[in-house]
Amino acid sequence: MNKTHEKQSASRQIIDAQQRIHENLEKTVLKHLKFKHQKPISQHTLIVFNQLKPVILAAIAENRPLIFDSCCGTAMSTSILAEENPDALVIGIDRSAIRLGKEYNNKLPDNVRLVQAECADFWHLAKQQGWKLQRHTILYPNPYPKSKHLKRRWHGHPAFSDLLALGGEIELRTNWKVYADEFSMAVKIVSDQSQQCNLVCTGTEIIQAIKPMTLFEKKYQESGQKLYRTIIRGGKREF
Ligand SMILES: C[S@@+](CC[C@H](N)C(=O)[O-])C[C@H]1O[C@@H](n2cnc3c(N)ncnc32)[C@H](O)[C@@H]1O
Repeated sequence: MNKTHEKQSASRQIIDAQQRIHENLEKTVLKHLKFKHQKPISQHTLIVFNQLKPVILAAIAENRPLIFDSCCGTAMSTSILAEENPDALVIGIDRSAIRLGKEYNNKLPDNVRLVQAECADFWHLAKQQGWKLQRHTILYPNPYPKSKHLKRRWHGHPAFSDLLALGGEIELRTNWKVYADEFSMAVKIVSDQSQQCNLVCTGTEIIQAIKPMTLFEKKYQESGQKLYRTIIRGGKREF
């Protein structure tokens, strides 16, 4: 996507979209819980994961908290999280080399690492290691608002259970209310499924005036859009 297009699309409201929670949400979430299908891990994600693994293991050995900022884009939020949590190791994950590039990130805090990776694959590898996060932010993921794209949204994706299993406080932000409603509903569906699971979710909340944490958030605020979030805290997470 070139810059001009990115600027224009960032502040666009979602209008041509599915209007309410998808009728196949429950079926899709339960199917992915039952059949933990995982596509082969992409080679480039495996390579960066193995490169980063010693750094993460060292942080864990020192009892430092681990924070993931998934779909971090230009990593503005990753830097903010790192500054607010100087003891933590904060990993910004995005598949776009351009967004992660030097143009945006010439001065990162020392406790940040950025990785160009597929989130679903990175989460799966992290879960296999048994790593537990303190916090996990997913701020303004691509909404995929067309009905036929439910499985591209994180709660409709096979990786959803890996995301939950990584633990910590998970915060999703979006400018599309249906995304937050579906995400919250998917958490409830997973929780209701097993006694080993009792996730606690705030449900959809409107984000009141806050200092923007990301470039997309800033653009949405400037164009007067309503923004939403849902936060998952605590709870047993055995699947
Ligand atoms: C709408 S942008 C939001 C970026 C940033 N969080 C912000 O609010 O400014 C969505 C980001 O998710 C990234 N992304 C989408 N799908 C991804 C995936 N499967 N793995 C990693 N990154 C992904 C895109 O490259 C893009 O940077």
